[in-house]
Amino acid sequence: MDKTPIDKIIKDLDISASEMRRLVKSFTSEMRRGLSGARSSLKMIPTYASQPTGEETGEFIALDLGGTNFRILSLELKGEGRIGKPAIMSFKLGQKEISGGENNLFDFIASRLKLFLSKNDLLGAKHFLGFTFSFPVKQTGIATGDLVCWTKGFSAKGVIGKDVVRLLNEALIRCGVGNLNISAMLNDTVGTLAAESYEDRNCDIGVIIGTGTNACYSETLSNISGIKNSGSASGRMIINIEWGNFDKLKKTRFDLEVDEMSSNPGEQILEKMVSGMYLGQIAESVIRQTIASPIRGFTTEHMSRIESDVSKDLSNTGRVLKSLGVKTSTLKVRAEVLSICKAVSSRGARIVAACLGAIILKMDPKISSSHTIAIDGTVYEKHPTFAKNIRAGLKGLFGRKASRVKLVLTKDGSGIGAAITAAAASNNRR
Ligand code: GLC
Repeated sequence: MDKTPIDKIIKDLDISASEMRRLVKSFTSEMRRGLSGARSSLKMIPTYASQPTGEETGEFIALDLGGTNFRILSLELKGEGRIGKPAIMSFKLGQKEISGGENNLFDFIASRLKLFLSKNDLLGAKHFLGFTFSFPVKQTGIATGDLVCWTKGFSAKGVIGKDVVRLLNEALIRCGVGNLNISAMLNDTVGTLAAESYEDRNCDIGVIIGTGTNACYSETLSNISGIKNSGSASGRMIINIEWGNFDKLKKTRFDLEVDEMSSNPGEQILEKMVSGMYLGQIAESVIRQTIASPIRGFTTEHMSRIESDVSKDLSNTGRVLKSLGVKTSTLKVRAEVLSICKAVSSRGARIVAACLGAIILKMDPKISSSHTIAIDGTVYEKHPTFAKNIRAGLKGLFGRKASRVKLVLTKDGSGIGAAITAAAASNNRR
């Protein structure tokens, strides 16, 4: 067992005020490099989507794929920011789809789309579909783009480098569905931004902090290199930052261990310090190497339970530890485990705050307008202090002006936003 005092480890995980400012600078410079086409850990992908007007209307189908569960929705956009109650079906991908061949994945999705259409009486007439595909895709138009790499543990073969809209279209044809027109493909962050800004015109940033993490924001067209005929009337375009890959961060040996064990070592460094797939793994690595070696299978959900423990003797923490192989624990051990969890999660939240600070300053250097940030994802929604720590981080950076920045939980935005983006794209096409 390692003899490094816990206090020292907790200090190494801390992000000081000056480190926050360094992160803001470094994130800004990576954003600029990515936008100009220079080498950068930030892909800064033009999405060919802009903020909705709130006046998009009609019935649309949305397919939301970004993790092991995917959802299909049909919903009516009523204009003036109003949305009808959607019909929703959820499905779970198996290992065969996540890590098998391309046809396994897309044929499965197409067959479930067919089931959804038939259950909801939607086979036959033509429908526009918005396809949320939450992985790094190099878009060349609103409904075309090639997968750059897999993230979040996905590894289906034969998809990298291919147009995912074409793969879905071909699978739909194989399965006999001929009435869907995929009018938009988008990232979940873009869907989240679209869903919130359908109602709130100040919303110009979309964020996901769930299994993975990422953000998008609205950028002036002239700042984006390589974009010609964008068709954007607003003079702006949403950029999918793919911030999960930001790598100008100080890594501890625990981060290095988690990275080495992952399916994509060396990639998605920020994601591995912030998102739900990894926070628990980092905490486990610290706990296992310092105070409780038998511990196995520690997840971000366990962290949330421990960090919500307000009992005097930390008995809930003891129960979590017990369920993970640590039969007995002293109060001292339980308190140390709690401190480690807090240090790991608050580091994640402070990294998010620094990156958000950089994005806001990029759009509005004096913070002279109001900004709404739409956020979705289980970590943001369910962790007891993550949201609060992001706000505190922004306050530390912006002082009083932080009150001009509103953070809004935008539940299921990635599905609803797909319908809105599909509507905007199909209007442009008509
Ligand atoms: C991963 C994906 C990214 C997505 C994020 C949240 O980082 O690469 O595209 O937005 O997860 O789901």
